[in-house]
Amino acid sequence: MALPEGIGIVVGSANARVGLEAGVETLKAGGSAIDAAIEAVKCVEDNVEDRGVGTGGIPNVIGQVELDATIMDGRTLAAGSVGAVKEYPHPIEIARKVMELTPHVMLVGEGAELFAKHHGFETANLLTEDAEASWRERIQGGASNGSSVYEDSYQLYMQVVDDWTKKLHEEIFGTTNVIVRDAQGDIACAVSTSGWGFKWPGRLGDSPIIGAGNYADNRFGSAACTGRGEMAIRCTTAASVVMYMRHGKSLAEALEAAMVDLRHLDDPFAGERSNVMNIVAMDREGNVNAASTSEESTFVFQRTDMSSYEEQARLTVPL
Ligand code: GLY
Repeated sequence: MALPEGIGIVVGSANARVGLEAGVETLKAGGSAIDAAIEAVKCVEDNVEDRGVGTGGIPNVIGQVELDATIMDGRTLAAGSVGAVKEYPHPIEIARKVMELTPHVMLVGEGAELFAKHHGFETANLLTEDAEASWRERIQGGASNGSSVYEDSYQLYMQVVDDWTKKLHEEIFGTTNVIVRDAQGDIACAVSTSGWGFKWPGRLGDSPIIGAGNYADNRFGSAACTGRGEMAIRCTTAASVVMYMRHGKSLAEALEAAMVDLRHLDDPFAGERSNVMNIVAMDREGNVNAASTSEESTFVFQRTDMSSYEEQARLTVPL
């Protein structure tokens, strides 16, 4: 059922609930889908309780919080992305500037940080005490030698990487997805993450990669992923959902088909976790739905005519 005339909608992964009101208020104030998606995601990036996005995100294996983010404009298929950015608390805003001001789509690492500096973005310490404690416990075995995480010696570094992939398997995939359709029917999709907890420095997941973790096209709809990004990269999962809708599948059928594609992956690192992939999606009329490999996963949405958000179960599609 299409959205009523003049009504916008914001939908996201469950952790986006902290940003839905900001997104809806932005739409009500006349902001675009892009404005609303950015405002919603910034709230998640600022939520220090969220261990998978922005400030408070779990660091990489050498104790640095490295952030990835993307924004895509469904009107024009314009997109901006940053990856492995340190010390900038709102990578989603930097991604927007990449989209709006440069001929590029993706900037990573030092180049992205240089770009952010030139555009006046403020730096901050993103490593909260809780996140640093998790790092010390998991990677240093609880030892605290009083040194800064960043000043650790080569010897400690070698200790840290020893057995690294085993530690990695057990840890966290946290990301936020926000898709917005404004009253004009324009769709935008924003994604932000600190990536896989204790990842290798410089590792990029699906979130900064257009088509893998984020896709939006006004003509067909939008999708965004959370979970183990390597899987979504290999199956171009977000773009697949939109492509399946383009070829006539309903929103629910498109979600299911994109999840079923993941079953073809031969993946020795998949581990035992049931919650390895989640997709939030919207069709071109503003209908929303989501899928997950886990039975427990939910998603949230709020229309501009609702006073608070609603939370719903996702379709479960096990691997
Ligand atoms: N889906 C987020 C990541 O893999 O980094």
